[in-house]
Amino acid sequence: MGDWMELNHNVNRRKFLTSAGVLTAGALLPKALALAQTQKVRVGLMLPYTGTYAQLGVAITNGFKLAVAERGNKLGGRELEYFTVDDEADPAKAPENTNKLVQRDKVDVLVGTVHSGVQMGMVKIAKENNTLMIIPNAGLDAATGALCSPNIFRTSFSNWQPSYPMGKVLADRGIRNVISLAWKYGAGEEAVAGFTEGFIKAGGKSVRGLWIPFPNVEFQALLTEIASIKPDAVFVFFAGGGAAKFIKDYAAAGLRKTIPLFGSGFLTDGVLDATEEAAQGLETTLHYADGLNTKRDRDFRSAYYKAYTFAPDVYAVQGYDAGLLLATGLDAVKGDISKRKEMIAAMEKAKIDSPRGAWTMSKAHNPIQDIYLRKVVGRENKLVSVAHKALADPARGCKL
Ligand code: BEZ
Repeated sequence: MGDWMELNHNVNRRKFLTSAGVLTAGALLPKALALAQTQKVRVGLMLPYTGTYAQLGVAITNGFKLAVAERGNKLGGRELEYFTVDDEADPAKAPENTNKLVQRDKVDVLVGTVHSGVQMGMVKIAKENNTLMIIPNAGLDAATGALCSPNIFRTSFSNWQPSYPMGKVLADRGIRNVISLAWKYGAGEEAVAGFTEGFIKAGGKSVRGLWIPFPNVEFQALLTEIASIKPDAVFVFFAGGGAAKFIKDYAAAGLRKTIPLFGSGFLTDGVLDATEEAAQGLETTLHYADGLNTKRDRDFRSAYYKAYTFAPDVYAVQGYDAGLLLATGLDAVKGDISKRKEMIAAMEKAKIDSPRGAWTMSKAHNPIQDIYLRKVVGRENKLVSVAHKALADPARGCKL
């Protein structure tokens, strides 16, 4: 048989086999793969959409969806299908809510959440099921510390991270004795611990802790106690609706004139429309600020405003960056989410071109990022300076 004849014979034989339905496993595989590629990537959004953190959940969702929309609504060539659960920032409901997405909806990737206590429940289930998870806010130190895992990534911060630099800011101003006040749960405790570590290391003398249960906002008795103790300054962790109420109550108690108030930037981010005069001049540290004055941030802000008709905050940025991180992973495997190792390797190496400034992933999967000192001017958290350049969380206990 000549070359041409042989080729023709083989083609005809293949045609016959196909039409007779006698296909080999080798021939089937690409088809199955192609089918998997046309299916949508199932994304589970588990965030608070009610309660004191509701606004944070909405901003994260908006940011994530904006990043996807900017890529033609496809990541790695595949469309996304969203499954959404309101976790109500309630740790008691975390296992049930996470399982709705993991067991019932069989999501490919979990994106969530805001509250560190809820995050603890999600981390356990994501580890047990080896579900890929991107944390777009909750600072739970252990998520990228003692409980770190190849399938868990964070695009926000550890609770230690934005608070630690504020310690040095205050110590350098000659402040020696501080009262801390925070919600008594993981995030508040870890934020105060981070601040205290930075403060004592830089020459501060004492931090005395006052606590209030989450999400309680009855601050009056605590403000009276602070007024009687007369510390050099107060450092707080509050966020969302509770933060707005605290800022107003602190000002109404007349304490702004006598005892300077500081906090991690969650105190003033996303709340300035509600606080008006009471927040003016407040200084905080965070991984985002108004007036960064980069093209990247300006472009993001105008795209966000165009899409949602209000300005973005740190939570929107973190959600947006979660979208960028997932895009990096899916692009690397051309949408084939079954190539888990390659996808994770790409996410680990990612340099995220974030509106907050470019950042990279630590070994423990937490952003290495600049922390800014900001000051409230009008309705903005204006950039004052870089409080700590390229700060990495210590990732205590992580064995990755
Ligand atoms: C947390 O629970 O980790 C958290 C919630 C809101 C803002 C920052 C941290």
